[in-house]
Amino acid sequence: MPLIANGDITTPEKAQFVLKYTGADAVMIGRAAQGRPWIFREIDHYLKTGTYLTRPTNDEIHETTIEHVKDLYEFYGENKGLRIARKHISWYTKGLKNSAYFRAAMNKIEDNNEQIDYIHLFFEDLSKKNKYIAYEDHSNDKELAVR
Ligand SMILES: Cc1cc2nc3c(=O)[nH]c(=O)nc-3n(C[C@H](O)[C@H](O)[C@H](O)COP(=O)(O)O)c2cc1C
Repeated sequence: MPLIANGDITTPEKAQFVLKYTGADAVMIGRAAQGRPWIFREIDHYLKTGTYLTRPTNDEIHETTIEHVKDLYEFYGENKGLRIARKHISWYTKGLKNSAYFRAAMNKIEDNNEQIDYIHLFFEDLSKKNKYIAYEDHSNDKELAVR
């Protein structure tokens, strides 16, 4: 029977350590994937090669967030979808430069089109400054383990 280890696995190094330490067949990632779905490919790459993948681009996180939010509207309906999207938008943008103000303002928006437009505005601005995702707090760099 396959054994899966989990709990607080947030970096490729932690995944490798837990796999070695427990001898488990796989690891399961929960919270660390919220807003950072590329963690799976990052861990996979690290386990296979021992090297770090390049960070995702701001364009990729932009597209992922928009697609996810539109899926939420479709699945839950516009009203409930808008509210559920707020927490996902928060996860996607947590730690990104100048994002605290964005999240506070985002959480007051009550209109679906406005929510989408504001996501576009935030990420377009970010993309102008940097090609790759840049986190404000450098402890997050370690946490993400992408360089
Ligand atoms: C977004 C999310 C989805 C999850 N989905 C599942 C699931 O489908 N099956 C399951 O057994 N546990 C699921 N869990 C629980 C986690 O696998 C895990 O037990 C728990 O979150 C602790 O691990 P973490 O520290 O990586 O979050 C989920 C957790 C989160 C946050």
